[in-house]
Amino acid sequence: KSLKIGLIPADGIGKEVIPAAKQAIIALGSDIPKPEFVDLIAGWECFTRTGVALPEETVEILRNECDCALFGSVSSPSRKVTGYSSPIVALRKKLDLYANIRPVVSVSPDVNQRPSIDLIVVRENTECLYVKEEILTIGEHGKEARATRLITERASRRIGQMAFELALARSRKHLTIIHKSNVLSVTDGLFRETVRGVPLLAGLNGKYDGVTIAEQLVDSAVYRLFREPEIFDVMVAPNLYGDIISDAAAALVGSLGLIPSINAGDDFVMGEPVHGSAPDIEGKGIANPLASIRSAALMLRHLGYSKGADKLDIAVDRVIREGRVLTPDLKGTSTTNEVLEAVLSKL
Ligand code: NAI
Ligand code: MG
Repeated sequence: KSLKIGLIPADGIGKEVIPAAKQAIIALGSDIPKPEFVDLIAGWECFTRTGVALPEETVEILRNECDCALFGSVSSPSRKVTGYSSPIVALRKKLDLYANIRPVVSVSPDVNQRPSIDLIVVRENTECLYVKEEILTIGEHGKEARATRLITERASRRIGQMAFELALARSRKHLTIIHKSNVLSVTDGLFRETVRGVPLLAGLNGKYDGVTIAEQLVDSAVYRLFREPEIFDVMVAPNLYGDIISDAAAALVGSLGLIPSINAGDDFVMGEPVHGSAPDIEGKGIANPLASIRSAALMLRHLGYSKGADKLDIAVDRVIREGRVLTPDLKGTSTTNEVLEAVLSKL
């Protein structure tokens, strides 16, 4: 049996870090089924060349041929470009990858990491403001822009269930629901109530009894994240809050270049570093590949290949702890390739 992995480096440093993750996967040898890679395109550069940001062929090959995928990062223009919309947002929707799971862990204070951070942000991945229904109208006093924020019971329930499952598998078993239902009582109210109701769903028979539940308004959650990040274990949030919180959490462990994620649905999983295309360092060969290698590990673990996943994580942690071969975002002087070589040497 082989493991067919779609590779979508997309734009910017995605093209530098995804090949590194590929090498790390290959180095696992017989710890995983023989990997087979399929190169696929999407992104801003793809759009400027072909007129589409996410070719239908890319989606079809992922859906019909691949077991999983690794996505790099896309560049998005900050103004509206007719016909362009983010392929990663579209892919999450098309493949129904409804959960975005982002672990943030500190392993060494020497690279500017706050100690004792070991949390997972579980972000709803398909709705909230990211349904991107925005309209611009002209009102009495000039332009007026409106956006739709969609929260459904179905999506809140399944992300809630995913979060309870993850909490149950951890030692602290503590789940914090992030919302702002004091202001947005209808939308965030539905999210909060639905997640709270997950343990009471029919057929669960007290499965989540061991999980303690807390909640925190999103603004004070960011405050507490900076003051006492160690209080958090699993955090579950609607799409936009989850996006912001996980980037903020990244600051506590030194660099966005360290934070992995997976986009997971019931029948597909796609690993993706949390960072963007980093135009400021693109092409210099100094992008940190560790977020992508960790994303590969998360993806493998989600598929049940925990032995391979553990090996990658242990190798990455050792490189960070030793602190000798690091990219400039971690105050090192090494290149992407040198960091990759350091990881490979630990495998
Ligand atoms: P960014 O994550 O690309 O960069 C933020 C800062 O972190 C930059 O200084 C960058 O150099 C640094 N950084 C990020 N990843 C790094 C790595 N692996 N190694 C070393 N340093 C790293 O976010 P920014 O600047 O807000 O966005 C740039 C572009 O990326 C935009 O077009 C944005 O739309 C896109 N983006 C795409 C995402 C995705 O593909 N899922 C997510 C976030 C942003
Ligand atoms: Mg983000």
